Order: sequence, then structure tokens, then C-alpha cells
Amino acid sequence: MAILPIIWAPDPRLKVISEPVPAVDDAVLKLMDDMLETMYAEPGIGLSAIQIGIAKRIVVVDVAREGEDPQPIRLVNPVITGESDDLAIFDEGCLSLPEFFSEIERPAEVEVTYTDENGAEQTLRADDILSRCLQHEIDHLDGILFVDHLSAVRRGMILRKLSKLKKSKERESA
Ligand code: NI
Repeated sequence: MAILPIIWAPDPRLKVISEPVPAVDDAVLKLMDDMLETMYAEPGIGLSAIQIGIAKRIVVVDVAREGEDPQPIRLVNPVITGESDDLAIFDEGCLSLPEFFSEIERPAEVEVTYTDENGAEQTLRADDILSRCLQHEIDHLDGILFVDHLSAVRRGMILRKLSKLKKSKERESA
């Protein structure tokens, strides 16, 4: 397994619409293992392949709480097939927008259909943090970041601050 560098916004790669995955082969399995290792190292609770620069519709999540056994879920070609009328507000963050959080309103519950690591079709009903995490990660596959759910003013402010943060990190590592 390998820990891979995560792309930080603003970056045009994060706006790309990812391609469907035709088959769950060894390369896809390895990619999902690497994504999980990268996510756990941060730590984070979800990661989409585009965040490491791979434009494939692949997501990994694990919303286990501290002290619980890991509960990794590997999702290939996930699609939201149902959502509740009820909405919920969560303070969202993103490994591609480090240090920034915003309250975002989304459906409280979702139904997600996907292909699992064995190539089997699965349907998952999620609420609470798992629902939120899946909606956030599936957004990434369509080039949507949580800041895209905010006003243009607030989004612009966060992305400008991130640009500065990126430049100072680049100088540190140069
Ligand atoms: Ni994210």
C-alpha cells in the first residue's frame, strides 16, 4: 500500500468529472487500498480518487469512531438513488481544503447504489455522518467541492486563503 499526495483546492483537477470504472480489477483494488491508507494517515473519513489525481468514479469512506474497529467501505461507480426530504446541517471539511469548515445543508438520509470490491452491486441506506460523507464524496466525482454549496463570496474568501496556504507550503518544501 502507499500513501499518496492529496490535491489541494484551488486546482483544476478537482473540477473534473470522473469517468465510470468498467470493471473492478486488481488495479482498482490496489487503488482503493492506497486511498484508504492515504485517508487514514491524514486522518479523514472519506476520499475520492480525483483527490489524488485519478479521474475515476471511486470513493472510500470509514466513519468508525475512535476506539471502534475500522469500517472501510469501498464504492465503485456510486450513485445516489434516493434521498430524504428531511435536511440536516453538518459542519463539513475536506482533505482538499485543509483547515476550512462550513455548515452545509443537505438531505439527512440517502440511498446509494454502487459496485463493491467483489464486483457485486450493493445498495446502502445511510443516515447521520455516513450519509453526509457519501454525499460529499460523490460530489467530488462530479467536480463539486463543499464550498460550491456556499455563496460565491464565502467560496471566494476560502479559496483565496487556500491559495496563500498552498504557496506558503510550496515555499516551505522548496
Ligand atoms: Ni472532500
